[in-house]
Amino acid sequence: MTLEPRSAPVVPIYYGGDYNPEQWSPETWREDVRLMRRAGVNLVTVGVFSWAQLEPREGEFDFGWLRSVLDLLGEADIGVDLSTPTASPPPWVMARYDDVAPLDERGARFSHGSRQHFCVLSPNYRRLAARVVARLVGELGDHGAVRMFHLHNEYACHVPYCYCDRHAEGFRSWLAGRYGSVPELNRAWGTSFWSQRYATFDEVLPPRMTPTHANPAQLLDFKRFSNDTWLEECLEEKRLVREVRPDIPVTTNFMGLFKPLDYFAWAEHLDLVSTDNYPDPADPQAAFWSALHYDMVRSLNKSVPWVVMEQTTYRVNWRRHNVPKVPGQMRALAYQALARGSSGLLFFQWRASRSGAEKFHSAMVPHSGERSPVFAEVVRLGAELALLEGLGAAPVAAEVGVLFSWPNWWALEEGTQPAQDMSMQGQLAWMARPLYDRQVTLDFCRPAEDLSRYRAVVAPSLYLLSEQEGANVVDYVQQGGTAFISFWSGIVDANDEVHMGPYGGPLRPLLGCDVLDVAPLPPGEQVEVEWEDGTRTAADFWADVAVERDGKVLARVASGPWAGTPAVVETAYGAGTAYYVGVRLDTGGMRRLYDRCEATCGREGEPGVERTVRRAGGARYEFLVNHGATEHQVTVTWPGTELLSDVQAAGTLTLAPWGVAVVRSQDG
Ligand code: GLA
Repeated sequence: MTLEPRSAPVVPIYYGGDYNPEQWSPETWREDVRLMRRAGVNLVTVGVFSWAQLEPREGEFDFGWLRSVLDLLGEADIGVDLSTPTASPPPWVMARYDDVAPLDERGARFSHGSRQHFCVLSPNYRRLAARVVARLVGELGDHGAVRMFHLHNEYACHVPYCYCDRHAEGFRSWLAGRYGSVPELNRAWGTSFWSQRYATFDEVLPPRMTPTHANPAQLLDFKRFSNDTWLEECLEEKRLVREVRPDIPVTTNFMGLFKPLDYFAWAEHLDLVSTDNYPDPADPQAAFWSALHYDMVRSLNKSVPWVVMEQTTYRVNWRRHNVPKVPGQMRALAYQALARGSSGLLFFQWRASRSGAEKFHSAMVPHSGERSPVFAEVVRLGAELALLEGLGAAPVAAEVGVLFSWPNWWALEEGTQPAQDMSMQGQLAWMARPLYDRQVTLDFCRPAEDLSRYRAVVAPSLYLLSEQEGANVVDYVQQGGTAFISFWSGIVDANDEVHMGPYGGPLRPLLGCDVLDVAPLPPGEQVEVEWEDGTRTAADFWADVAVERDGKVLARVASGPWAGTPAVVETAYGAGTAYYVGVRLDTGGMRRLYDRCEATCGREGEPGVERTVRRAGGARYEFLVNHGATEHQVTVTWPGTELLSDVQAAGTLTLAPWGVAVVRSQDG
């Protein structure tokens, strides 16, 4: 089967990228528009880093050049995602106002000359940012080309935390709001330890440099406070935009698994969730991480669409060694995003810069211009998107939920844990990768949200868990759900205080055994795990030390000092079942566990091929994406039309290296 594009007029999916016209002459703008049309571009993000050109001197604004750009784009029917320029204040801002520079935990000041060099609580930054945003939307918000607003750029990406005096003051008021009184703060933070008891809120500081470990609860609250502070700034920008254009969707670009911001809380405020995704093409796990990224972003706000706002066509320039995507890999990763629900494919950036820190970052139009093979791939992809008519908003139904929370991530990786090499991403990969191999689509879920739509949920080290969150998970199982709960879950409450007694806190009813202690294993060492039928697999990293209770022990640790301790326990609870996993099972062990629940966890699919289904308007779209350099024969689940080639597909089809197929069939 050849997958040559056929022509189709309708382009319902956003296609384009960041466009930085301030780096180019008006002559190049016209050339850009010509090339954008050639590539099928229908949306570009403009203005992200334009502040210095929009307000070259304080209070002197120049929107004329940007209006001309928008005119050109509008005439060519290319939509604009108009960005506020606040991620990079011009040099005059810092030169004039002392309060703008953020401070690190040692009190060192960041300078201008890069980007993101501001303290989000600086009154002058806030005043000037609000003014330029208001002026921008006032001048250009009602321009006919504008289809979307883009707030800032990657909030908090380089300087997520500032430790200045304003942050100290803000933190104190935030704490007063959260705890009401100093004794309550002392209780929540456990300040009886190391003589940390506060007499007044005024004594509290942000966690600046300390001789050894700072109070973990203080660290956790500072992360909460900083997140709230960033969100407040974002919402102020949103308010200013909304005042002028209440009718246009507003977004800001996330960074997937970005630790400092609680994107669940942010996504509630957006009309469209968007994300920037830069998997390392040289990483054999790139497709998995990318899938996980998209599943996460899609499920942050389950009632709005989402889009890939940035990715690279070829290569980034910020890794030590920047291996490019091989021919076809860009397309495969792009279809992966569509397969997982994205309403568009946008790139950083449209035209490769001639100078500056990202001049060797790839773009849709490389330095070599139209003749570049990358541009040819861009044109091909744009043409193909026109064939996916009807897909635009088709939902993705995920089967399994990953219980995830940012406060848990913050607390889990704080530096006083039994295993400081415990990482949220490591735990996620351990539990989710085998599900990805089984072609299970995941949603990320807050532990307290309604879980009833999922066949199963997995809890990778859900260390920080409130009573209420835990009760929700227990209730889900009681009502008939299946939960896989890993070691180091249900350990502390929202204040990072240990749930006393055997470990597990509110999840204890689901563990089926009593976890009396934990044993991080010597690095690199494995223990054997013996299953009921006598077969053995291995585990490493961690073993809970547990005694039997009311669950059925499916496997035990079978070597080393903790031999005999339950390693996997199945507990029937209400109408559902819980699986507790007290060790880090190897791949074979995880396979055994998920195999036991084939109805919920599916079966392993074709290695290297991703299979996902979207449904809309009575149609079913089965996406098959080959993430490797080997050809694959794949089975088509439902006979239908392969949209990219307009060929009837049934039985098996051949996926070329990095090949893609989208088979549309009648649903029902
Ligand atoms: C981020 C930023 C862009 C650019 C790219 C480079 O996504 O938003 O401005 O720096 O990274 O990969």
